[in-house]
This record gives sequence, C-alpha cells and structure tokens, in this order.
Amino acid sequence: MRLANKVAIVTGAGAGMGKAVALRFAREGAQVVVAEIHAAGGKATVEAIRRAKGQAIFVTTDVSQENEVKAMVTTTMEQYSRIDILYNNAAVELHGQDARAHELSAEIWDRTHAINLRSVWLCSKYAIPPMLEQHGGSIIHVASPTGLYGCAPGYTAYSASKGGVVALTRVMAADYARDNIRVNAIVPGTTDTPMIAPLLEDDGIRARLTALAPLGRLGQPDDVSGLAVFLASDESAYCTGGIYMADGGLTAV
Ligand SMILES: NC(=O)c1ccc[n+]([C@@H]2O[C@H](COP(=O)([O-])OP(=O)(O)OC[C@H]3O[C@@H](n4cnc5c(N)ncnc54)[C@H](O)[C@@H]3O)[C@@H](O)[C@H]2O)c1
Repeated sequence: MRLANKVAIVTGAGAGMGKAVALRFAREGAQVVVAEIHAAGGKATVEAIRRAKGQAIFVTTDVSQENEVKAMVTTTMEQYSRIDILYNNAAVELHGQDARAHELSAEIWDRTHAINLRSVWLCSKYAIPPMLEQHGGSIIHVASPTGLYGCAPGYTAYSASKGGVVALTRVMAADYARDNIRVNAIVPGTTDTPMIAPLLEDDGIRARLTALAPLGRLGQPDDVSGLAVFLASDESAYCTGGIYMADGGLTAV
C-alpha cells in the first residue's frame, strides 16, 4: 500500500473527484479525514471507506470559514496526531451567477474566491504547522484549465480563482521546500461530476466538451486518483511546485 501510515485530509470529499480520491487514499492505506460542507455526502464517503475496511472520519467543514478549518485541523490532530497529506479539492462553480467581468457581482466574485482560493490558503495555513513539526508533508491543490487559459468564457470568478490556485502552488512550493513540505497542483480536465452536471444536461454542450478532449471522452472522477496517490506518496519525493495535468490532453492543444 502506497500511503500506509499516512494521514490525509481531503476537502470536498463528499462528491465527485474528492470522493474518488478519498476512497483511493484509504485503499492505499491512508487514514482519511473527510472535510466536507454537506453532511450526507461526507458521511456516505466515510461509510464507503469503512465498508472497504479503510479508516476515515467525517468533519463537517465549510472550507471558506477560518474557525471551521481551524477546528477541522484540531480534530484531525486529536484523532490521528499527524497530517501527512492535504488535498485541497473543495470548490464551487456558480453557474448562472458567474459571468463576464462587467456583468459579475462583487458578491459572486467574493463567494467564489472564498471557497475556491482563500480556502486553499486557509487549509494550508492550519495544516502546515504540524507538517513543520514532522519535517515533511505533501500538499496538493486542485486547479483547473480555466486557471491557465481563457477556455471558460463567462466564468470570470471561477477562472481567476483557479489562476490564484496555480500561483499559490508555486509560492508555497518555494517557501516550504527546505521544510520537506512539497506543494503541487493537479489540473483535471472536463470531468463528469455534480459540479458540471448543469452543463452536461444539455446534449449539445456535452458533445462539445467531450470533443474538446483529445482522448475523446469526458474525465471520470477516478481519473485524477492515480496522480493524486503519486503526488501524496513518497514516490514523488523530488516533485514540488509542479502543475500536473489529468485532462485528457485538453491543455495540450
Ligand atoms: N468537474 C470538472 O470538470 C472540473 C474541471 C477542472 C477542475 N475541477 C476542480 O476539481 C475539484 C473537484 O471538482 P468536482 O467536479 O469533483 O466538484 P463537485 O462539485 O462534484 O464536488 C465538490 C465537493 O466540494 C464540496 N464543497 C463545496 N463547497 C464547500 C465548502 N465551502 N466547504 C467544504 N466542501 C465544499 C461539495 O459539497 C462537493 O461535495 C474542484 O476544485 C474543481 O474546481 C473540476
């Protein structure tokens, strides 16, 4: 097992890719903290892990709220006494509210940035001190093609938040390299999860998004899991500051 004896926090692990990664981390031997705002989804992930004889706890967490993030990290330390992996996955895409720059409200900009970017910094802020004590850790941020290219017209707040995640990956990698805390980002492609279900309901949009990926299909939630395990494990000991694609080739063309 590639993550034996490691403790992993996965944010937004109640659905989509976060759930797939939490299940996979547990299968690889990690003790998993499911940090999720929606109790039903978070508890279902923990039950699925336990049914498969893995170890996990659910901690209700709104990652945009500093007191909740702080409490989640405290609970993790009380339960497992260490943090080896932080998988910063939780995010929202506010369909129908995110918009072109001049049409976007400050409220939607702020909400998107609080959940997608500020949260990534906040979870890191509280998870890093135990990692410094342990002299090691792996932090993985989930970015997006929209943070690299203008490939999602009309999604100003979301794209800008994901661009911020890329910058945060690099500055944190530089800041903590000598502490043996590695910081990398995964860029998923268009992936069939609840996040983009409102888009995929439209057959025309589904066909267009499918055709955009050179591999000729949409991503499935588990398509990021192998990369996540690699970056979380000691196999990636010399990898930090990297932006890794699991996008079906979307950003290569
Ligand atoms: N689906 C895609 O096509 C796609 C593409 C590129 C990047 N991404 C990124 O991948 C990551 C996972 O996306 P997904 O498609 O699996 O999303 P999803 O919407 O399917 O799942 C996200 C999970 O995060 C939780 N969450 C939302 N707000 C939260 C908060 N404030 N605190 C804690 N949990 C919260 C949700 O309840 C949900 O369980 C996100 O960072 C997303 O931006 C997704």
